[in-house]
Amino acid sequence: MGGINFFPNDLEVKDQKIILRLDLNVPIKDKVIKDDTRIVLCLPFINNLIEKKAKIIIISHLGRPKGVSVPELSLTPIYKYLKETLKTNVYFFRGVFDDDVNEKFSYLKGGDVILIENIRFFKEEAEDDLNFSKKIGALGDIYINDAFSCSHRKQASVHSITKFVKRSFAGPLLKKEISAINLVIENKKEPVTCIIGGSKISTKINVILSLIKKINNLIIVGAMANNFFTYKNFKVGKSLVEENTKEVIEDIYKKAELNNCKILIPEDCLVGTSFDGTSKKRNLDEVKDDEIILDIGDDTIENIKKKINESNTVLWNGPAGYFENENFSKGTLSIAEKISKNTIEKSLLSVLGGGDTLAAINKINSKLSFSHLSTAGGAFLEFLEGKDLPGISVLK
Ligand code: ADP
Ligand code: 3PG
Ligand code: MG
Repeated sequence: MGGINFFPNDLEVKDQKIILRLDLNVPIKDKVIKDDTRIVLCLPFINNLIEKKAKIIIISHLGRPKGVSVPELSLTPIYKYLKETLKTNVYFFRGVFDDDVNEKFSYLKGGDVILIENIRFFKEEAEDDLNFSKKIGALGDIYINDAFSCSHRKQASVHSITKFVKRSFAGPLLKKEISAINLVIENKKEPVTCIIGGSKISTKINVILSLIKKINNLIIVGAMANNFFTYKNFKVGKSLVEENTKEVIEDIYKKAELNNCKILIPEDCLVGTSFDGTSKKRNLDEVKDDEIILDIGDDTIENIKKKINESNTVLWNGPAGYFENENFSKGTLSIAEKISKNTIEKSLLSVLGGGDTLAAINKINSKLSFSHLSTAGGAFLEFLEGKDLPGISVLK
C-alpha cells in the first residue's frame, strides 16, 4: 500500500516509549461519552502494546478548542474510560512540554499508559509548529499514527512530529481502514452515489469538487445543504451556513454538468426554533426568519431512497440532520436503514464514515449491515478523492 511503514508486529518494544496518536474525538455531552466506537476500535492495539510491556504515551485531540484550554473539551471523561477499561496503570498528563521534557514520564513502567490532555489546547498543534513537534517528539522512542480519521490534518502530532522521532509507523487500525477503502475504490460498481452531510462545511465542500469526477450521483444533506439552499436564493432563517461558498457551489454545478454527475439537494425539511425543540415540516420557500433547518423532510427521504435503489455503490459521510435530538433523526436513520437493506438484499457496495455518522447509526436498535464502516469523515472523503494525506505521506 504505497510504501507506508506499517508497525511490524514482531518489533521488540519492551520498555520503549511509544507515542501513539489516536483519534479519541468522540461525541461527549455533559462529560458523558455518547458513542465510544472510536475508542473501542483502538483498544485491541493498546492492549497488544500493554502485553508487550511498552510504555504507551497516547495523544489525541477533542473538538476544535483553537489553541486554548476549554474545560468542556478536556479528555478527562476519556481518561476515566481508559482507566476503567485497561488492566494496567493509566495516568493523565495535563502539564506543558517544557525543556525538561526528557524527564517527563520517567516514572512509567513497561505496560503503563499515559494519556496527554487534548493536544489542541496548544495553539502550536494546529500550526504544525516545528519547535512544538520537537518537544512532543522527544517524549518517545517510536511514533505510531493509528488515527486515519485525522491524517488529513497537517498538524504537529500527525505530521511534523515524525521529523523528531527515530522511527515512525502506521498502526493496525489505520492499515485496516485504508485497505478496506482501497478495496471499495478498486471494486466499485456504477452507478456510484455519494451522500454528503454533517456540519463541517469548510472541510468538506472543496472535496466535493474533485469527487464529482468519480461519481454518478451526489446527494447533499445535513447542514451542508443549507449552503446550497442559500445559493438557490431560499431563505434559511437561523440555520447553520458558511460564508463565501457561492463560488465553490457554482463550480460544483458546472463540474457536475461537465462530468454528467447528477446533484440532488433536499426539497423539503424539518425546522425547529431551537436545537432541543420539536420539529415542523416546511417546504424550502416556507422557512421563517427565527427557524433552523435541522433535518430533511419525508419527500426528500423518498427521493434519496429511490437514488439508493438505482445505485450499485453508495459512499456516505455526514448525518442528514441534528440526529442528537430524536425529533430530527428520521432523515439520518431512514438513509442508514435503506443502505443497509440494499447491502443485504441487493449486494449494494456501501461505505459509511465519520465519527458522528457512526454515532447516529449506533442509535438504531435494529442490526444494520454495511460493506465497511470507517471512523473517518473528512479524511475518508479526501482519501476517496485520491489525495495524499499529510499524516500518511510522512509514514512512507
Ligand atoms: P461526521 O462526524 O460524520 O464526519 P460532521 O462532524 O461533519 O459529521 O457533522 C456531524 C454533526 O452535524 C452532528 O453533530 C449533526 O447533528 C450535525 N448536523 C447535521 N445536520 C445539521 C443541521 N441541519 N443543522 C445543524 N447541525 C447539523
Ligand atoms: C473527525 O472527527 O473527523 C476527526 O477527529 C478530525 O477532526 P477535525 O475535523 O476537527 O480535524
Ligand atoms: Mg464529526
